[in-house]
Amino acid sequence: MILDMSVRCLTRLLLVVGLLHAVSAIIKGNSDYQHYQQQLPGDHFSKDFYHPDLKNGLLSSNMRFKPVTDCMFVTSEPGSFTYTSKTNDEEVCGIYFLAGPDQMVEINFITFDVPCEHHGLVSVVDGWELNGEVFPSEMDHRLPLKQRSSEFCGKNIGVKRTFTSSQNVAVIQYRIPKPGKGFTLLARFLKNPRPCNVLAASIGEPYTLRNYGRRVNCTYVALYSGTVQVIALGVGVSNFLGSVRTTETGTLRKCDETSPHDQVVIGGSFGLDTSKVQIVDSICGIDSKPDYQELVEYSVTSVRLVSSGFFENSVTVQVQPLKDELLDANLSI
Ligand SMILES: *[C@@H]1O[C@H](CO)[C@@H](O)[C@H](O)[C@H]1NC(C)=O
Repeated sequence: MILDMSVRCLTRLLLVVGLLHAVSAIIKGNSDYQHYQQQLPGDHFSKDFYHPDLKNGLLSSNMRFKPVTDCMFVTSEPGSFTYTSKTNDEEVCGIYFLAGPDQMVEINFITFDVPCEHHGLVSVVDGWELNGEVFPSEMDHRLPLKQRSSEFCGKNIGVKRTFTSSQNVAVIQYRIPKPGKGFTLLARFLKNPRPCNVLAASIGEPYTLRNYGRRVNCTYVALYSGTVQVIALGVGVSNFLGSVRTTETGTLRKCDETSPHDQVVIGGSFGLDTSKVQIVDSICGIDSKPDYQELVEYSVTSVRLVSSGFFENSVTVQVQPLKDELLDANLSI
């Protein structure tokens, strides 16, 4: 979608595997950003990866501008970041921001020098883009795909613009094949008053999806396989006259027949595009103490709340990773 297809093809597989691993490391509880070391697909990550060098961590958090050192750079911390190209390599790289579930990412370029004549290009994406797939998927985002990215190059271009994401993830993709050129940016995490699509930023923490009365579909995604446990359920049940029911119904299945426009769809996929999920189950109803869990054996687990706008829907879920999944990930991509 964003940059030259030919350039991207080369790095695709590595990036998908790398991203999932890098995110795993971050959501395992390391508050500071991680550096992704390039590995071959299928390689197991060494356990050292999850115990970042403390000295390096302290060093970088004390610096005013955090240098972007790795091609795949994932950070769960706001702050100032700087990238200076060292090569004339046309590789496409990315700075992946992952804020808290109820936050959105605001990006301002402070300096910008990316020469167009040397094939330089920067792209700011509202969401994460990887392997040609985006999260949130086009069907769940309020903006069409085309309006979710801005590409530009030149000197001081984009410095006056502010980019704000619609959810807790955003990515800056860049290709700067000219040594010494680059950019600095300031990333802030702002409060999102009505979060909809969310990428899990921690492991196994309960999360409540809500529609805030809107006609909207929202997806919660965890980049690991696991057990989806439903902790509370209040989703679109009406009687046959159409009035809102407020008594416990228990957890209902086969909602496609009874409540197709208000339901929770649990599924899994192997990439970021949640419109390609394999549906594992769908439920609806009002149940304040559901006894429900479902195993999702894909590398990406998603819970999608479908809302017609006629109900105040909410569902609280917890995605527990399979044992040792994150240390021992051998993704079948
Ligand atoms: C939500 O999803 C359902 C089923 O996937 C679809 O029929 C409906 O049009 C979607 N609503 C919105 C607002 O996109």
